[in-house]
Amino acid sequence: MAFREYKIGCFMFGFALSFSMFVTIFLPGLDISGMSSTKLALEKQLTYGWETGFNYYDPFLQGKDKPIKVVLSKDPRTGAAIDKTDAYVFPAGTHFPDGLTHDNILGEKVQAVSSSKGRIGEATEEAGGVFLVRVDADDTPYIEFATATRGWTADAVLKAADEQFLAGSGKTMFVREGCWWCHTLLPEETQDWQTFGRPPLVGDFNGESPTTFGSDRKAPDLLHVGARNSSREWMTMHFFNPRLVQPHSIMPRYDYLWGSKDAEGNNIDLAAWDKEYMAYADGSEVYPPEVPTPASDSEARMLIDFVLNLK
Ligand code: HEC
Repeated sequence: MAFREYKIGCFMFGFALSFSMFVTIFLPGLDISGMSSTKLALEKQLTYGWETGFNYYDPFLQGKDKPIKVVLSKDPRTGAAIDKTDAYVFPAGTHFPDGLTHDNILGEKVQAVSSSKGRIGEATEEAGGVFLVRVDADDTPYIEFATATRGWTADAVLKAADEQFLAGSGKTMFVREGCWWCHTLLPEETQDWQTFGRPPLVGDFNGESPTTFGSDRKAPDLLHVGARNSSREWMTMHFFNPRLVQPHSIMPRYDYLWGSKDAEGNNIDLAAWDKEYMAYADGSEVYPPEVPTPASDSEARMLIDFVLNLK
């Protein structure tokens, strides 16, 4: 190597080093802890509950200890009709998300309104209860502890619910099954936004961990997938065997998330299903075998609820 190139190399190295020192020393001065939660961040906190990552508390990542998101169209206490409302039910003993136990991470204003109007300070994990996400007259989103403010108990809300989503448990499945190896939850570039919808805002992630952004995309972004495809039937077939609906898909099957029984309590025999499917694949049968309806407590149901809830 010529001496001149050596000198240029040294200069470049020196420049890179001082630039990275500048970043290390000055950028932490940008404090994002004051970032205010968006309404979406509050909804995610209450949907996903306490997220443990991969620790000893949740060694088998079974989606236990999670809140249930429900849709209400009547007041569970009085029975009076109300506008369609999402409510987040934490049965007694369910761990709270970080946004409730360390509410300073919600941002100053959101925290203040959630404690004054929303009375979240009265909620305890031992007793559990029901939460709502609301927006006050100045457009500040906040969490309301409906058990204190409206007398809504977990049991009454579950009974009155039109629909229940096990989306919190489903997020655990999404992490455990490694969906993020192929899928992102982060539309990144402008051409992406046209296909996959709006990019997230910084405040959408207050208190969420893991964020499941994904990294290296091999498949469609899923941040808003429930908005472009809300069909539970399609999702059911696609998770059981993606080739039933997308003939050349590289996505793996997730038929084992159905467990041993379907929604009617019949045994699921994956080997027998495969045999019939192979007959269909090689053309000796006209129709593929039917996909079993997932049981209401199956991991497949949890995962589908999570995906349909991504709007
Ligand atoms: C090996 C890569 C891979 C893995 C792992 C994977 N997928 Fe996929 N997925 C794909 C590909 C490729 C497509 C597009 C073709 C298709 O629809 O099958 C897709 C499509 C989808 C779609 C439809 C997207 C749309 O735009 O309508 C959903 C929903 C989905 N995957 C969810 C999941 C979930 C949840 C998991 C984890 C349980 C998962 N995928 C794991 C590759 C993958």
